[in-house]
Amino acid sequence: MIRTAIGDLNSVGQGEKVRLNGWVQDLRRLKSIAFVVLRDHTGTVQVTLKPDALSNYNEVSELSRESVLEIEGKVDRKSGAKAGMEIQALSVNILNISRSPLPLGIDDPVEADFDTRLNNRFLDLRKKENNIIFRVESSLLWGMRKYLMSQNFVEVHTPKIVAAATEGGADLFRVKYFEKETYLNQSPQLYKEILMSSGMDRVFEVGPAFRAEEHNTPRHLNEFTSVDIEMSFADHNGAMTMLENAVKSGIEEVLAINADALKLLGKELGVPEVPFPRITYKECVKIIEKKGFTFNYGEDFNTEHLKEIGKEFPGFYFITEWPATVRPFYTMPKQDDPSLTNSYDLQFGEKEITSGAQRVHDPDMLEKRFMEKGLNPSDFEFYIKSFRYGMPPHAGWGLGLERLTMIILDIPNIRSVTLFPRDRTRVVP
Ligand code: 4AD
Ligand code: MG
Repeated sequence: MIRTAIGDLNSVGQGEKVRLNGWVQDLRRLKSIAFVVLRDHTGTVQVTLKPDALSNYNEVSELSRESVLEIEGKVDRKSGAKAGMEIQALSVNILNISRSPLPLGIDDPVEADFDTRLNNRFLDLRKKENNIIFRVESSLLWGMRKYLMSQNFVEVHTPKIVAAATEGGADLFRVKYFEKETYLNQSPQLYKEILMSSGMDRVFEVGPAFRAEEHNTPRHLNEFTSVDIEMSFADHNGAMTMLENAVKSGIEEVLAINADALKLLGKELGVPEVPFPRITYKECVKIIEKKGFTFNYGEDFNTEHLKEIGKEFPGFYFITEWPATVRPFYTMPKQDDPSLTNSYDLQFGEKEITSGAQRVHDPDMLEKRFMEKGLNPSDFEFYIKSFRYGMPPHAGWGLGLERLTMIILDIPNIRSVTLFPRDRTRVVP
């Protein structure tokens, strides 16, 4: 008999036989009858166990919580069960017995502290409100993938053990690679650009990115999932259009697939209107100066500044035309004012979700930009080489998948939307 998901029991007729697989969420033994609340990834159902129907009744009715069962039984809608139905067990196969006590309760009314939850993440994720976040994230990514594929992007995979930094040398994790010193990649930036020289035209990658950031914040991880694109014969405007449409498509997919999850989490989500507003860096400086901050023009915005800007623009919006001083070497200077760049961040209120830009495609300009940033072009020879023999103009972006998930579900800590978060103090589990 094939397995029925508990969430699908509503469409099964009275008296029909089903096979269910799941965990013992609760077990009550009365005088000559026992009730199991069985849970799978779709929900819970009450199962009635009777001694005369089950040869192993004694063993089953003594089971510990979170033991794993396979139950065959009959759907019974006439009983007084709370959910309007229960299952009368015909056979119970014990697949695994859980040890007790549990390090973390699954349906305890009091929430355990966050560290205990993360230390026992396998149990924490058995709670529907926790694991459902990852179903939402999956649909979100699927919606973005669908859009990018429709625009002729090819999904690629580039190395994560690399020889050069892309986003600045300070945040690198070193890796001993036989006799050489290498790093974990901070971003697929250099490789996705090389692929533009190789004529792949439009690529995207979904993969891990590593940042050795020392500080613990609610929005930084040391390993996160980066959704990256790079496209040829395009500038920053073309890449921004791809980004807003990809985000919109992701949210549409969540709405189509995860309505129940949004309801369970109590989240209201709407399809954002595109195009998103575009605000220049200079306009943002004006906003924060008007709020009484003294700001050093040419610097990055800090959390306080972004809070003020976010108050003016509570939804999705782009900050464009960043000064060259705060953008990496590969960023294209603005033609009529090279102190600025053809770059942008996608923001949601105060939170950064994406950075992107048109890239420098001229090898001489690129070498000059390396020097200006105090970097040695010879460390990047493998990259610059791909610019010397016909590199097309190109643009792209990198989006933090966890950041976008936090935003659409309005979850304050990035660790909640990461299965096994890596932060300054946590590498286990
Ligand atoms: O802004 P970042 O550093 O930009 C790049 O990596 C560029 N190569 C992208 C490009 O194509 N120009 O990182 C991109 C995004 C950020 O906007 C943020 O959402 C996420 O990656 N991110 C992090 N997420 C979690 N924890 C961290 N430590 C993150 N660092 C960046
Ligand atoms: Mg950034």
